Amino acid sequence: METPETRTCDVLVIGAGGAGMRAAIAATEAGCSTIVVTKSLLGKAHTVMAEGGIAAALGNVDPDDDWKVHFADTMLGGQLLNNWRMVEIYAHEVIDRVRELESWGGLFDRTPAGGIMQRAFGAHSWKRLCHVGDRTGLELIRTCQDRLTATGKADVCMEYTLTKLVSDGNRIVGAIGYKRSDGGFVVINAKAVVLATGGWGKMFRYTSNSWEGTGDGAAMAYEVGAELLDMEFIQFHPTGMIWPPGARGILVTEAVRGEGGYLYNSEGKRFMFEYDPKKLELSSRDVVARSIYKEVKAGRGTPHGGAYLDIRHRGGDYIKRKLPSMYEQFHALAAVDITKEPMEVAPTIHYTMGGIKVDPETAASTVPGLYAAGEVAGGLHGANRLGGNSLGDILVFGRRAGEAAAEFAKSHEAASVPDGELDAEQKRVLAPLAAPEKGEGENPYLLHEALQWAMQDDAGIARTEESLNRSLSAIQELKGRAKNMHVPGGRTMNPGWHTCRDVESMLTVSEAIVRSAIERRESRGSQWRLDYLEKDPEQAKVNYVTYRNGDSMAVKPVPHDPIPKEKEELLHHSRFYEEKKA
Ligand code: FUM
Repeated sequence: METPETRTCDVLVIGAGGAGMRAAIAATEAGCSTIVVTKSLLGKAHTVMAEGGIAAALGNVDPDDDWKVHFADTMLGGQLLNNWRMVEIYAHEVIDRVRELESWGGLFDRTPAGGIMQRAFGAHSWKRLCHVGDRTGLELIRTCQDRLTATGKADVCMEYTLTKLVSDGNRIVGAIGYKRSDGGFVVINAKAVVLATGGWGKMFRYTSNSWEGTGDGAAMAYEVGAELLDMEFIQFHPTGMIWPPGARGILVTEAVRGEGGYLYNSEGKRFMFEYDPKKLELSSRDVVARSIYKEVKAGRGTPHGGAYLDIRHRGGDYIKRKLPSMYEQFHALAAVDITKEPMEVAPTIHYTMGGIKVDPETAASTVPGLYAAGEVAGGLHGANRLGGNSLGDILVFGRRAGEAAAEFAKSHEAASVPDGELDAEQKRVLAPLAAPEKGEGENPYLLHEALQWAMQDDAGIARTEESLNRSLSAIQELKGRAKNMHVPGGRTMNPGWHTCRDVESMLTVSEAIVRSAIERRESRGSQWRLDYLEKDPEQAKVNYVTYRNGDSMAVKPVPHDPIPKEKEELLHHSRFYEEKKA
C-alpha cells in the first residue's frame, strides 16, 4: 500500500459551510491547530440555499419580539420533539451571533432607523428574519470565509474526501480519506473532530441540495458508533422550481411569501385559506408543502404539477430590490419574468431535521472527541424546522462545537491513526477501480438513480407502512449491488469513483430514514403517515434513535428530556400557541 499524506492537528473540522467555518474560527481562537477539510470548494455549500434570512429576535421591526417568543415558536414548530435546552440556548445566543456577524463585516438590509432589517417567515410570530435581499446564506458564508482566512490560522484542504473516522476504542483519533485531484490517500491525526458536513437531500429525486448533500458525515459518524436522532424527519420546502425539468427542485425562497407572495391553484383560488386560515402562505413548511401536494392530487395543480406563486402585486422595483436572485433565477432558467408572471412551484427536499445526537451545551456526540454542528446534528428542530432557524443554528452551535472540541483537544494527549486502519480503508475505497467480482460490475450512477426513486416515491412527503417497506427492500437490494460497484478510469479526477463513496453514504442514511419512519406510527411535523393520520400522545414523548448493532442497523424509542414547567410556560408567548398545541 502507498504511503499517505499525513497531517496532524488538535481539531479537525470536516465540512466548510457556515457551521464548519464558525467551528474553525472558534477552535483557532481557542489557540488550537485546526484543519478544515471540504470535499467541495471553500465558499460553496448548501448554506447559500438558506436565502431568506437568519431568525433572531432582535425586535427591530416588531418590538414585541424577544427570545422567549422565538423559543416558543421553534418548539411549537418542531411539535415539541425538539431538545428544549438546545432551543433555549439557540434563541438566546443567536441574537449575539447575528450582531457578531455584522461586526465582522456582514451586510444586512436596513430599517429606516438604521437597524438590521427583519422580514416575516412561516410560523414565526413576528418579523424576525435578518436578511440581505434573498442572498443571506451567501453573505453569511462570505463573512465567515473572510474571518477565517483573515486570521490565517486554519489550514484549509479543499477537494479532499474523507471516508472514515477512526476511533481507538475510547476516543476519536483522526480520519482517513483521499484527494479528489489525484486520488492520493490522506491520514489526518486529530485530538478532536467536528463534523459539519450538512444534510442529505441527494438520495431524493427532487431536492434543493447540490451534489455535496450525500450524508457522508452522518454515515461516518454512524459507522464509528455515534447515535443518530429523529432520522425520519425530512423537510420538504414548499416551493421549489418545477419547470423546466433541468431546474426542478431548485429553491424558490420562502422570502417570496415573506414579502407577501400568494399561492393559488389552477382554479385561481388562494387555497391556503382552506388549510391554515390564520397564517395562510406563512404557515409552517410541513403544512404548506402538504397543502400544495393535496391540491395537485385533487386535480387542481398547474400544467407541470405544482401551484402558482405570485408576487407581481408588490411591483417590479420592490421585487428586484428584495428578491434579486429569484428575479434572475426565473429569468435565466425558466424564461419567466416574475414581475409580470406567476411562478410555478412544487415541494422540494430541502433540509434534514434529524442527525447526529449531540449534547445541547457542547455539541458532543456519543463518541468521545467527536462533535457535530449544523444540519448534520439533530435535536434543535424536532419534527419540523422553521425557515431561518438553520442559519442561526450553524452560527450558535458551530461556535459551541468549535470551542468544546478545542477544550477536549487541550485536555487530551496526541492522537494517531493506526497503520492497520489505513491498509483496510485503502483496500475498501479502491475496490471499485479494480476488476469487478461479478460481470461488468454495478454502475454507481444507476444505483444512485434507483435509490432516488425509491426514496422519492416511497419515503417522501406521504408515507405508509407498505411504501416504507418497499423502500427498505429497495435499499437492501441496492446495498447488495453496491458491494460490486465498478467504474472505469483511474484515481485522477474520477467523478464515477467519487460517486461510489457517495452511494455508500446515501444508502446508510436512507436506511436510517426509512427504519425510523417505519417506527414512528403517527403523523407529526414532516412525517405524514397516511396509515396513521393523527398524532399519538405516546409518541410525543420519544425520539427515535438509530445505532449500530454489530453489522446491523437498529432503531429504538428513547424518551426525551421533559421540558421543565417554567420553560413550558414560555410556550404561551407564541402567537400560535393555541392552534399548535392542539
Ligand atoms: O426559503 C429560504 O430562503 C430558506 C431558508 C431556510 O431554509 O432557512
